[in-house]
Amino acid sequence: MLFPEGVAIDGKTGAVTPETGRYVKRLSELKGIYQDQAAFQRAVSDGNDPVAYEVIDYRNKESDLSFGTTIMAPGQVGGEYFMTRGHYHERPECGEAYYTQSGEGLLLLESRDGEVRTVEMKPGICAFIPPDWAHRSINTGKEKLVFVWFCATDAGHDYGEILTKGMRKIVVERDGRYAVIDNPAYTKASA
Ligand code: PA5
Ligand code: NI
Repeated sequence: MLFPEGVAIDGKTGAVTPETGRYVKRLSELKGIYQDQAAFQRAVSDGNDPVAYEVIDYRNKESDLSFGTTIMAPGQVGGEYFMTRGHYHERPECGEAYYTQSGEGLLLLESRDGEVRTVEMKPGICAFIPPDWAHRSINTGKEKLVFVWFCATDAGHDYGEILTKGMRKIVVERDGRYAVIDNPAYTKASA
């Protein structure tokens, strides 16, 4: 039987206590999500294959609801900010919420029929991700971006489509701030 408990979440570090699991994504594991392959190789070797993000969860198969944190390092690859892989949920009826604790970022979302939306991620904003919208978070700041996510335990992650086609937009730095522009690789792939 599960029992209620208070779970401590550190909004600066993203630590979850107690936690049930975690994983780390180093930059080298994110091949293919950035436009500039040469810049990608340079960022991996010059930065000693930095940790791009880490996910810590509080999850139990006996409960339908899970939550946890994502901690994203600041950084760029060829002008694109560090970002997550991005995914749809395997179960299309499952939405999600991202509540930003520290740092600043952009949540990039895309529906199956090609609607694109962004939601700024900053402390105090809880982003609603509707069912069946692909979502990718992007650290547009100079500090760590830490957010808490809440999701159905069995929502599942479907990475295939975003990995092969990319998303319709990319987020780059222009004149010291972020700009959302068309993804040239996406246009080519679907032409
Ligand atoms: O379920 C979520 O949406 C998050 O926990 C993400 O999995 C996390 O932020 C990492 O992103 P991704 O799974 O796209 O690599
Ligand atoms: Ni998700």
